[in-house]
Amino acid sequence: MDGGNHSEVPEFVLLELTSSWEIQILLFLFFTTFYVASMLGNLLIVLTIISDRHLHSPMYFLLANLSFIDTGVSSIATPKMIYDLFRKHRAISLKGCITQMFFIHTVGGTEMVLLTVMAYDRYVVICKPLHYLTSMSLRTCTSLLAVAWTIGLFHSVVQLAFVVNLPFCGNNKMDSFCCDFPRFIKLASADTYRLEFLVAANSGFISTGTFFILIVSYVFILVTVS
Ligand SMILES: *[C@@H]1O[C@H](CO)[C@@H](O)[C@H](O)[C@H]1NC(C)=O
Repeated sequence: MDGGNHSEVPEFVLLELTSSWEIQILLFLFFTTFYVASMLGNLLIVLTIISDRHLHSPMYFLLANLSFIDTGVSSIATPKMIYDLFRKHRAISLKGCITQMFFIHTVGGTEMVLLTVMAYDRYVVICKPLHYLTSMSLRTCTSLLAVAWTIGLFHSVVQLAFVVNLPFCGNNKMDSFCCDFPRFIKLASADTYRLEFLVAANSGFISTGTFFILIVSYVFILVTVS
């Protein structure tokens, strides 16, 4: 339709983890075991918290949401990676690749913010116990969750907006078992120096930002209890 001067690469070829048959079996068992264990463990936490009325408090609701998000995090790239172990042609379409990147960053960004929300919850209960019931109601908890999802979505969409129209032709060998921005950008046939910087700065900002807030909240808690 657009008849432009760049033809799109219809699919990307993902990295082969190993060509040895024995190691493939070993990796298959290893990844499957951990994937199933993580899904079952997280679902058990969510079901326990939802079904037990004693656990209907902000802290446990946040924990249930964290476990729920964790099932999502594990399910974005792992099942395909396990499936790909035994395939000769490990391909992923451009749309599939963009979908993977979208979900990895939305869910990953949300999880990081959720961790700081959980830290805030513990900070209030330990350092400002008299304010806890008023400042950490179920409604506040739900609003904070909404904020976490909004930041995660924003973090992901901002990066996607810059890479979604990149031209691809020729090189389609992804140096990884799943799609992520840095490697995706490297394959584009355009000058991507600024874009790489932008993506690294974006992910770096959200990771170091949440890490810093977590550390500060722990310092406050340690100072209070000691
Ligand atoms: C997430 O937290 C809210 C409360 O803010 C709760 O109603 C909801 O059930 C939780 N979601 C999950 C999957 O646990």
